[in-house]
Amino acid sequence: MCGIVGYVGNKQASKVIIDGLKRLEYRGYDSAGLATLNGTLELNKGKGKVANLEKLVGDSQHGKIGIGHTRWATHGEPNDINSHPHLSQNGKLALVHNGIIENYNTLKKKLTEQGYEFYSETDTEVIAKLIESFLDKDASSLKKAVQLALHQVTGTYGIALVHSDFPDQIIVARKGSPLLLGIGDGEMLIASDASAVAAYTDKVVYLDDGEIAVITKDDYTVESAEQVELTKEVHELALSLEEIEKGGYDHFMLKEIFEQPKALSDCLRGRINVNEGTVTLGGIESVMEQLVNANRIVIAACGTSWHSGLVGEYLFEYLAKVPVEVEYASEFRYKEQLIGEGDVMIVISQSGETADTLAALREAKERGALVLGVVNVVGSTIARETDAGVYIHAGPEIGVASTKAFTAQVTVLTLMAIRLGLEKGTIDKKHAKKLIKELSLIPSKIEEILKQTDQIQHVSNLFSYAPNFLYLGRSYSFPVALEGALKLKEISYIHAEGYPAAEMKHGPIALIDEMMPVVVIAATHHTNDKMISNIEEVKARKGRIIAITNAGNNEVADLAEFSCTIPETLDVFSPLLSVIPLQLLSYYVAVNRGCNVDQPRNLAKSVTVE
Ligand code: M6R
Repeated sequence: MCGIVGYVGNKQASKVIIDGLKRLEYRGYDSAGLATLNGTLELNKGKGKVANLEKLVGDSQHGKIGIGHTRWATHGEPNDINSHPHLSQNGKLALVHNGIIENYNTLKKKLTEQGYEFYSETDTEVIAKLIESFLDKDASSLKKAVQLALHQVTGTYGIALVHSDFPDQIIVARKGSPLLLGIGDGEMLIASDASAVAAYTDKVVYLDDGEIAVITKDDYTVESAEQVELTKEVHELALSLEEIEKGGYDHFMLKEIFEQPKALSDCLRGRINVNEGTVTLGGIESVMEQLVNANRIVIAACGTSWHSGLVGEYLFEYLAKVPVEVEYASEFRYKEQLIGEGDVMIVISQSGETADTLAALREAKERGALVLGVVNVVGSTIARETDAGVYIHAGPEIGVASTKAFTAQVTVLTLMAIRLGLEKGTIDKKHAKKLIKELSLIPSKIEEILKQTDQIQHVSNLFSYAPNFLYLGRSYSFPVALEGALKLKEISYIHAEGYPAAEMKHGPIALIDEMMPVVVIAATHHTNDKMISNIEEVKARKGRIIAITNAGNNEVADLAEFSCTIPETLDVFSPLLSVIPLQLLSYYVAVNRGCNVDQPRNLAKSVTVE
């Protein structure tokens, strides 16, 4: 949610910042803005995408220090005035912000009484004016003024600011919203995530909550909330530019769908031994005893990650015989808190920054549960705050619609469940060998499915007209039905619902007529007969069946108007295959409808507000 970039060095800051903002645009794209210092403050900002800002800036900003922002609107509609950066009254200070200032109304009232004027509807403008009010009393230290101002603020923030009276420094501070420093040679960058700095440096420092940093072109200092100077660890980035570019694909989403065989191979590499039938997960070996003795596992996540959590529930219960509850992270804190010592929480997050997931993690930790992370972004807040965890190693996912993160998350959950099952003795070596052998074949089976892309595109062309879609699945295919529906609605804006197939009879069946495409995921053998009955029920009401089923399942294929087959696999692994055609279906429907696939309206990749 909102992307922040800053630069200080010898280059034209506006160019570096715009380049960085383009890479962060997936975090929000309602408006964009840029402030640089060149004697005085130079500012351009406006509604629309970074490309629009680039046009506005043209060759007008020559300063070598500056900050930029791409916005996902919270307070105030996306328009020119509400765009960041926001200025102090005297026009000397410019500030960008990611997060929500909860007491902004109270602060605004106080500042208005003191004579400060406000132009935008944002909560952010309050921070700029508040810092100015402290500088008006003591103009000797910008950092001091920022610290005093942040003391009065409640809520979440990642902020960056420049001031024309302090022309060689950028100040950044974080509480609840991610920020990192990129350490270059004679230049420094700041950004909401590493993709914005990867072209300039591979050395980064992650800021933690409560910290404030002063950055100049050759140096940086970081202080804790208690104003103690800190020596921060410098991390090496393992991020290539190739990974964060489209590489010839029309959209990141399509690239990421096609990257799944590689992503899953990377995820499995060094973790499985097919001959021995063993799984090694370095990140959780030290907590294995606690996992084995867990009373129960609570999985907390949002969106697609929640869907992979649902698959995880089936996996852990089947393979490790441990009770699992899957919670929407956003709802977790509003329930009676029964989690505690002896329980294990697994938080799943691609970005590692989702505010609700982070809050669930903190709550569970505070109550004594062991908290494990299944995260993609290395060094993200969730990855750092969990007790232990397993990275999914899917590589950067930039398309707002999550694809390869889902399959990599499910792969990691599978590995965890097998590892735990072996440790507990709920599966034996022979069973584990069979599972691991089959799991090792999944990447090549996904390759096979991707060869049917033209056929899936054809089906998409026929159904792009539909205002509604229904997705049905049983057992392991139920979370896949939810995921298929989410993919379609978020990028094509078609209303879609996913249901356990049997639930159809308890309501949704009323929606079925000759206009309704019903996507049936009939990919688990043990539910096949029941799925066939459901297909018949839909057909009897003239619904149009698109089936995803196993190769050789002619009974389902013959009943369906269109079918896409997935290679034969064990039921437990079917979500890793059956989801692929659904990703492609939603992609091509969205393209046909002229939607912006990588940046769907109203959405942001990383949801850092609650
Ligand atoms: O980064 P996270 O995995 O924590 O994100 C969770 C959801 O915001 C995310 O999966 C969202 O639902 C995607 N847009 C789905 O494609």
